[in-house]
Amino acid sequence: MMRRPSKKAKRYEPEDYAITIEKLRKEFDGLVAVNDFNLRIRKGVTYGLIGPNGSGKTTTIKMLMGLLRPTAGRATILGEAVPIKDKLPCIGYMPQDMAVYFDMSVHENLQLFSELYSVDKEIFEKREEELLKVVGLEERADSLVSQLSGGMRHRLSLACTLIHDPEILFLDEPTVGVDPELRVGFWGYFRKLKESGKTVVMTTHYMDEAMRCDVIGMMRAGRLIAQGSPKGLIEKSSTKNLEDAFLVFSRGVM
Ligand SMILES: Nc1ncnc2c1ncn2[C@@H]1O[C@H](COP(=O)(O)OP(=O)(O)O)[C@@H](O)[C@H]1O
Ligand SMILES: [Mg+2]
Repeated sequence: MMRRPSKKAKRYEPEDYAITIEKLRKEFDGLVAVNDFNLRIRKGVTYGLIGPNGSGKTTTIKMLMGLLRPTAGRATILGEAVPIKDKLPCIGYMPQDMAVYFDMSVHENLQLFSELYSVDKEIFEKREEELLKVVGLEERADSLVSQLSGGMRHRLSLACTLIHDPEILFLDEPTVGVDPELRVGFWGYFRKLKESGKTVVMTTHYMDEAMRCDVIGMMRAGRLIAQGSPKGLIEKSSTKNLEDAFLVFSRGVM
């Protein structure tokens, strides 16, 4: 009898992954914020974590960044166990809450971040010019951060995250408070990052943005309830959009 050739799924090696998470858990005084989370993100992928407020997205990212100690479980970034040390220069992290200095100018903030990562002066100047354009702050380089609007500070925070050209980016709600025109610009830049092989992990509330990710992880109550390409998840749930798909996958968990 002739055997049909088996359709083997592509196997990935450990070094293909930018991030691995195994049974990661975080409890705050009995509240389970992240509940035995498993996840693998391949290098070069734009990964969107979506889910309602309080579903554990920020807590997951903070554990990966070494800012919160997991209650249980383990994670790796570029093969190094979290909390990472050696691979830290390869990471850019834009926290959900502001991480820029208010009593310094836009330029001084960017300079500080570039010095923290020992970016060469000439490279810094080139990147500063490029990034100020991306975030629409080229006219505000000398403004004090305290004089900027909330949206402008948010955009500066993104530029600071990118100044050392990191391999992996963790962006926690990078486009909140960013006007639609500039969001388009951000996404143009995210695409460029992807083309140059960077891994981007972001959280977002905007479903149009989630649609642009290669892979989405849907979170609810600290669990990953579904994962796949945006189109794949819509098909699998027999719905027409990600909001409805989310509701379908939510029914499976409580
Ligand atoms: N430092 C903390 N102390 C106590 N509870 C926290 C703390 N940080 C987050 N939480 C709780 O953990 C849950 C997950 O929060 P979070 O990770 O911020 O969710 P998301 O980013 O998805 O909105 C929420 O119920 C939140 O109130
Ligand atoms: Mg959050």
